[in-house]
Amino acid sequence: MSKGHEVVEKNVGLMAVLIIAVLSVAGLVQIVPLFFAAETTEPMEGVEPYAPLEFAGRDIYVREGCYNCHSQMIRPFRAETERYGHYSLAGEFVYDRPFQWGSKRTGPDLARVGDRYSDLWHEIHLLNPRDVLPDSNMPAYPWLAERTLDGDDVARRMRAQQRWLGVPYTDEQIQGAAAEVDGKTEMEAIIAYLQGLGTAIEHTR
Ligand code: HEC
Repeated sequence: MSKGHEVVEKNVGLMAVLIIAVLSVAGLVQIVPLFFAAETTEPMEGVEPYAPLEFAGRDIYVREGCYNCHSQMIRPFRAETERYGHYSLAGEFVYDRPFQWGSKRTGPDLARVGDRYSDLWHEIHLLNPRDVLPDSNMPAYPWLAERTLDGDDVARRMRAQQRWLGVPYTDEQIQGAAAEVDGKTEMEAIIAYLQGLGTAIEHTR
């Protein structure tokens, strides 16, 4: 054994410091380039900021804790892509603040649920999942059909995304949003959001 090895192997403190140094450099080499790669920081072609109604629906999705049972990230494995469609790409999530990837799947992944069912299917399902799938253990969300959106509130939240998170909404879009969504039900909003999920890329399922 060389002298250097012997010194390191007989000194736990020194070994710990060297291990940390090696892991830090290795970590930086892997992670730092991702901050600069267009593939991970810029929207993929076809990915637009959420339309006002979808945007409102997304906030309701977060409020209701749908992410506790549903992930939104299709892993690049055969079993996943056969079931859900093309695996998820980083550029699909640039406007997702906060992102909804998740790893808990009591229910199916929803990353590409858009266009899979009709609006009516979603409505019946959200009002009472047992009406379409008798064995479903998903909770019912009947209040979504009764509660309506406050247009000014939605516009203010879009403004925050524009100002603090750099989402490229124009001022006209934000001003128009208030009138566009005001009085619509939360049900309409969450369905609009669900129907857009994962539809920006061409894929076959
Ligand atoms: C307690 C866990 C749980 C929660 C919370 C939950 N779900 Fe589900 N979800 C499920 C299960 C289980 C299924 C599969 C059975 C079914 O379709 O009802 C499902 C299915 C779905 C489907 C159909 C997916 C497909 O590909 O067939 C959609 C859409 C959906 N959920 C949306 C939502 C939304 C929106 C919320 C929040 C408002 C929500 N879920 C909250 C458990 C949950």
